[in-house]
Amino acid sequence: MRRQYIDIENPDTLSLKADTLAAPSAGEIAIRVDFAGVNRADVLQRLGLYPVPDDASPILGLEVAGQVAAIGANVEGFEIGDPVAALVQGGGYATSAIARADHTLRLPANIDSRQGAALPEALLTVWHNVFTLGNLKPSETLLVHGGGSGIGSIAIQMAKAWGAQVVATAGGLEKCTRVQALGADHVLDYRSDNLIDDFKNIGVAGAIDVILDMAGGDFTPLNFELAAPDGRIVCIGVMRGSKAEIELFPILMKRLTLTGSTLRGLGMTGRADGFAALQRVMMPFVAAGHIEPYIDTVVPLEEAMSAHTRMQSGGHFGKILLDCRQA
Ligand SMILES: NC(=O)c1ccc[n+]([C@@H]2O[C@H](COP(=O)([O-])OP(=O)(O)OC[C@H]3O[C@@H](n4cnc5c(N)ncnc54)[C@H](OP(=O)(O)O)[C@@H]3O)[C@@H](O)[C@H]2O)c1
Repeated sequence: MRRQYIDIENPDTLSLKADTLAAPSAGEIAIRVDFAGVNRADVLQRLGLYPVPDDASPILGLEVAGQVAAIGANVEGFEIGDPVAALVQGGGYATSAIARADHTLRLPANIDSRQGAALPEALLTVWHNVFTLGNLKPSETLLVHGGGSGIGSIAIQMAKAWGAQVVATAGGLEKCTRVQALGADHVLDYRSDNLIDDFKNIGVAGAIDVILDMAGGDFTPLNFELAAPDGRIVCIGVMRGSKAEIELFPILMKRLTLTGSTLRGLGMTGRADGFAALQRVMMPFVAAGHIEPYIDTVVPLEEAMSAHTRMQSGGHFGKILLDCRQA
């Protein structure tokens, strides 16, 4: 199958090229890509700061949505033309892509491929970190730092659908208002001079069971203070820096857990287990309209660089997508 894809010429230049996509191997499907999701990791990869694993395509792009175009051996449950969204091992910034069948979600009728492309990375990241590592229970409180991010906006909706109370942070009043509209119970501006007092004023300081943290840095000691006894802090990003000075006593006194993960580190089996759980537990909430991706911008595939520029500017809210249909 001929495909067009985005090649990293250098950190400042992304260009459209063409080649032939190999047929799917056993356990894989080929997807005719309508839309591809843009992720922070793509920006880091373009800048040379995110090494590509040996078993992954060097082409950018970790998630796509479209229709099944070809089916490899030993794949059950998919037909040609089925609407799907999948996590891919690179190669998503393209008009067609290969995905493992067990890293693929069947899209319900209410989710088109535009919305579908915003789902795989966010759903799996939140599922693994908040629900598996964090073990969030419906009776508990979740704090989402970066509530307006692609990941954060889905995390809020997943936790609310699950029945939990959700507190979020975002940068600036406008983003806070938009995060509140996603269903968060409380949203605080992380640029406040008295953030800890703001948490105290809404009565959740020292009472948060699970924290999804993409900030790191100086938010790490803050998280220790905000966590409830037996609290779980799950680090998925370091937007405020990868180093933190911490007081260890809160870990002892409150029996805190500080953990984290990367999706690529999860491995093939871990990701497949996550997708099976998502299809069973979370996709019914998606089909019922309780979890809906928020799309910030859709950019033509050949203009992928402008999508990265928008993400790097930090002005976006929700997901940035590439339209791979017109290339
Ligand atoms: N570990 C994993 O498996 C995994 C998987 C996917 C993503 N991630 C990480 O999750 C994060 C979100 O990814 P994304 O693709 O959804 O990116 P994104 O939409 O660009 O989100 C970045 C988020 O970081 C927040 N932020 C930026 N600077 C901040 C600061 N100084 N203090 C506090 N918050 C700050 C932003 O908040 P405002 O916009 O409100 O300023 C925004 O919500 C990234 O760090 C990414 O690397 C990790």
